[in-house]
Amino acid sequence: MEKVNVAVLGATGAVGRTMIRILQERRFPMRSLKLLASPHSAGKVIDLGAKTGIVEEFSPAALKDVDLVFGAVENDLAEEYAPLIQRSGALFVDNSSAFRLEEDVPLVIPEINARDIRWHHGIVANPNCATILAMMALSPILKLTRVKRMIVSTYQAVSGAGMKGMDELERQIRDPSAAPEVFPFPIAFNVIPQIGDFDENGISAEEWKMQNEGRRILHDEALQVSCTCVRVPVYRCHSESIYVETETEVSLDAIRQAAEECPGLVLNEAPYPTPKECTDSDAVVIGRLRRDEACPHGLHLWCCCDQLRKGAATNAVQIGEWAWQNGLLKKGV
Ligand SMILES: NC(=O)c1ccc[n+]([C@@H]2O[C@H](COP(=O)([O-])OP(=O)(O)OC[C@H]3O[C@@H](n4cnc5c(N)ncnc54)[C@H](OP(=O)(O)O)[C@@H]3O)[C@@H](O)[C@H]2O)c1
Repeated sequence: MEKVNVAVLGATGAVGRTMIRILQERRFPMRSLKLLASPHSAGKVIDLGAKTGIVEEFSPAALKDVDLVFGAVENDLAEEYAPLIQRSGALFVDNSSAFRLEEDVPLVIPEINARDIRWHHGIVANPNCATILAMMALSPILKLTRVKRMIVSTYQAVSGAGMKGMDELERQIRDPSAAPEVFPFPIAFNVIPQIGDFDENGISAEEWKMQNEGRRILHDEALQVSCTCVRVPVYRCHSESIYVETETEVSLDAIRQAAEECPGLVLNEAPYPTPKECTDSDAVVIGRLRRDEACPHGLHLWCCCDQLRKGAATNAVQIGEWAWQNGLLKKGV
């Protein structure tokens, strides 16, 4: 099969840098790799292992001959650039939340709904990192029964807010009086129950994404999701406490067995996963699996995942791989 001309848009950011690493680690079949960012980064040199790459400013001309663009920029830029990428004929695999709920844009976790990539019209959306973690963590249960309802509390790393989030934690650890610029309160030695702005019902932007994305991925309009999203002073790797109510009763042993057959998932009951040990790995690690003693269909679990990898970059690269293997690049509009 022909190799691919790839571009990473947002190549200097937290997700973009991770994407470049993952493309190399997974030996993505690249003929060329363009590194695109803002005018401010044009000319910067990025380490590509055996060689280096020079960052270019994004422009329609920079898309010439590109087959696949991995996007890692904010929503407003993704919205502005998407029509240009579509017009160029390249497939846009986007990490922002700009297109996640658009009807004609597949929202994909390859282990769960890779086949949705087949009906793309030039854009495939990567789900929110906290959504990817929750859906992957539930995959063994979903093999056995329907999940009717889930209640999630997240413990999200500062890298979820990009390079600037990590810089702010670093700065405040060194000087706890340093004023917050990225987060609404000091994040060092603290936890903040707010990720994104609140709507009129008091739901944060991150909570709203989590509440709405799972239904599209699972094709289950009746799935009920409630969550509280919390920022914690961890550099990398999100964690979640998940409570689910299933349609039928399933045994913990059946879930443990099903977990063995779920790609990308690891069960760790010795004694449980923590974000530190899951950092820089692609696995979604679950543990603390237990019954709700007050409800026969209720289950609790805990999970961790490096959200810069499987929650963003790795998931996007897997989408690109599936599209390439199935001849689905260059569909455009
Ligand atoms: N961080 C996560 O864990 C995570 C997880 C899932 C999804 N996401 C989403 O992924 C996207 C990127 O997040 P991030 O955390 O990587 O952010 P980030 O570290 O702040 O990186 C932002 C990137 O956007 C580039 N950019 C800014 N202005 C630009 C312009 N005018 N033209 C082209 N590129 C421009 C920046 O380039 P310069 O360096 O030149 O400014 C940088 O490469 C966001 O939509 C975010 O919501 C993030």
